[in-house]
Amino acid sequence: MLTPDGEPAITDWSLQPGVRHLNHGSFGAVPLVAQRAQAGFRQVMDENPCAWFTGLPERVASARSEIAGFLHTNPGVTALVPNASAGVSVVYANMPTSRGMEILVTDHTYGAVAVGAERLARRCGGVVRIVRIPLDADAAAATELVMSEVTDRTALIVIDQVTSATGREMPAGAISAAGRALGVPVLVDAAHAPGLFAEPLAGIDPDFWVGNLHKFACAPRGTAVLVASGSLAQRLNPLIDSWGAPYPFPERFDHQGTLDVTGYLAASASFETIEQRYGWDSARTYVKRLGDYAETIISAAMSEATGGDARVDVGMQVSALRLVRLPAPLATNLDDAADLRHCLSATAGVETGITTWRGQGFLRLSMHVYNTPEDYEDFAERVVPLIVELARGAQPGESPGRR
Ligand SMILES: Cc1ncc(COP(=O)(O)O)c(C=O)c1O
Repeated sequence: MLTPDGEPAITDWSLQPGVRHLNHGSFGAVPLVAQRAQAGFRQVMDENPCAWFTGLPERVASARSEIAGFLHTNPGVTALVPNASAGVSVVYANMPTSRGMEILVTDHTYGAVAVGAERLARRCGGVVRIVRIPLDADAAAATELVMSEVTDRTALIVIDQVTSATGREMPAGAISAAGRALGVPVLVDAAHAPGLFAEPLAGIDPDFWVGNLHKFACAPRGTAVLVASGSLAQRLNPLIDSWGAPYPFPERFDHQGTLDVTGYLAASASFETIEQRYGWDSARTYVKRLGDYAETIISAAMSEATGGDARVDVGMQVSALRLVRLPAPLATNLDDAADLRHCLSATAGVETGITTWRGQGFLRLSMHVYNTPEDYEDFAERVVPLIVELARGAQPGESPGRR
């Protein structure tokens, strides 16, 4: 994509030149305009901290309204939290519990979210039950698999809107509706959804919905939302007890001690710059086409080089997250996946997502408007042969990055 001045879109970011940035989905990338807006807020804060922190909750409330507007949701049900993990932790810390209760997660649930569920279950003498969902399951099959595990002890269903390791969508709307009909609370981990979907909450009415704004929406990091409506919303308190405690949800989240909340205030600069310079609809269309192209050429190159089939049949595919199967024995566990990612970064100058799921390693490509077809052509020509060479040289169980 090009800027309105005809420059490559990447000139709107400060991404390190000479590196291929093919992993937007992990930590995002903040446009220069929003970096400057945040730096401007920090400067004002440091010029007169007393003046800054007095009256800050009102400014946070106004940022909350802007952010809710971007998400097409109601600011009255939207709280700001530093990241998706914090939002999930708030839910775990405040939801009703009972001895022996069960929490349902899936085998696609983000690791840290599953760890928090385990800790909550341990506190109540309960258990976490893991629902196995095949990678190619469609919405109806995934809904059926999750709901068939609900028992009268189920106290919470945790479902991703978009999964991390497997980069697929889950039927969060159908599962929320089914949970509500049975009176079982549902927490939707929508870490990847803001910006990726024009109206990420459309058709979803969960008890709790958590989304990161630093990923596809490109806001400064440390900026996420916890949306909660329904009877449990007023139980939610921030992890940091502060002066907002007497206020209702979500206002009480506008006060969280002395925190640097400049990311909240600068988030709308990211949303606006992408709208003005590319248009969010055009950005989403571009990313979908680029994702199709990247997946096609890289999986074809990988299949040809390995003699196997590197294509992955993903149910409910997501435009900006794409999987390519890695040859064994690469990335068959989390440590090996991290090692391979470091190895590709150090030796090939390319930042990629390397994930592992059910013992299979995947290349997870994620893209934004600053990526180009050439990024993926280069990857197919230069990096795929390197990956295949690493796989051939590795002994089973050996991580190439450690050699
Ligand atoms: C599905 C999912 N949930 C939760 C998280 C946690 O996000 P954070 O580290 O910003 O708290 C991530 C991070 O990538 C994720 O992909």
